[in-house]
Amino acid sequence: MDHYYTKKTNFYGNTDPHELIEQYGSPLYVYNENILRQRCRDMADFIPCANYTANYSTKANANLELLRIIREEGLHADAMSPGEIYVLLAAGFLPEQILYIGNNVSIEEMMYAVNLGITVSVDSLSQLETFGRHNPGGNVAVRINPGFGIGHHENVVTGGKKTKFGINCNRINDIKALIKEYDLNLVGINQHIGSLFMEGEPYIQSIRMLLDIAAHFEGLRFIDMGGGFGIPYQKQLGEKPLELELFGRQVAELLNDWASRYNPGVQFMSEPGRYVVAECGVLLGTVHARKENGGINYVGTDLGFNVLARPVMYDAWHDIEVYQKNKQADYSKPETVTIVGNICESGDIIAHSRQLPHIGIGDILGVMDAGAYGYSMSSNYNNRLRPAEVMIQRDGTHKLIRRRDTLEDMLRTFPSGE
Ligand SMILES: Cc1ncc(COP(=O)(O)O)c(C=O)c1O
Repeated sequence: MDHYYTKKTNFYGNTDPHELIEQYGSPLYVYNENILRQRCRDMADFIPCANYTANYSTKANANLELLRIIREEGLHADAMSPGEIYVLLAAGFLPEQILYIGNNVSIEEMMYAVNLGITVSVDSLSQLETFGRHNPGGNVAVRINPGFGIGHHENVVTGGKKTKFGINCNRINDIKALIKEYDLNLVGINQHIGSLFMEGEPYIQSIRMLLDIAAHFEGLRFIDMGGGFGIPYQKQLGEKPLELELFGRQVAELLNDWASRYNPGVQFMSEPGRYVVAECGVLLGTVHARKENGGINYVGTDLGFNVLARPVMYDAWHDIEVYQKNKQADYSKPETVTIVGNICESGDIIAHSRQLPHIGIGDILGVMDAGAYGYSMSSNYNNRLRPAEVMIQRDGTHKLIRRRDTLEDMLRTFPSGE
């Protein structure tokens, strides 16, 4: 398995993990611009259909520099909060390129978007009513729950009966009644059935259902099919990427057929987050301790769940690469280790029972595919500092794209703390 992924992609450009940690500190998020641009293009070209745009889902990674690149590559964006809208505008996205997908939001939040000229999608009848009362005659979109969902963990399934998301697909008449009552203009419908699928069929099935629903509404400007496109997190075990070509053609066929029958001017959109940014990011951390306890070999690192929450939140797998200083880690003689962080919680485990080369104190670990839901879900839990973020640029050089928190940042939000 070796350093399979980072070698194959020349991930670190002109530098290496030890140099990066020396310069920027540990832990550290490292992104590769070439990979990011390629993933943007994959998504922009995914559906061979003239009226198709990919909306990057900002929650996956809201680093300003990444957003600028994503915009340059022609993607539009969806936002889940005023904070995401704020950074998207700072990154140069135009209001008409942003869709605000609200979930249980205040009228102040809705109006923040409306006043900026950003379309709001509401995800319940009660939020549609709130929107209508404050903004009669306005443009609005609704998030539909098509009645089923998918995902790699129950916490990321967002369609179906057991989730809080969307307006049930059998409430079309209620949507129409509220639209009429408040003289609203229904400009779009959207859905998102869940995260991390590796086969296209459920997504295609959900599109069929969404298109059936869309046929009940005249004059829609857009139909947004949602995100959820998976990436292979287990590359070292041979997992293959999502096969986009055939999948994209099948989707295009459905969309073109629907457009020709009902509404040739409609814009189709998707909402990929993970697919765009996961593989362009590696999280580096340092090994500070080793211990054996109850027959388990623990490798103690600074990779606490405040830095990367996915393993703890979703029991998620990330491939690990081992970087020893001035020598190549020996993958031919693996040992079984459990890699843990520095947070005061027994669940603070980044990788359970992995077969890895001998890991010593001072070695650096690379956590692969950490670009999505990595930094964006990080926190200051235990008053730990969130890491810096660095970009390996197209010419192989590196630059800082977000500084590490400082101890002073821990006091910044207190009235007496500047
Ligand atoms: C509404 C919505 N759209 C898009 C996404 C992006 O999902 P993914 O990163 O799996 O593509 C999410 C993720 O939770 C979401 O909630």
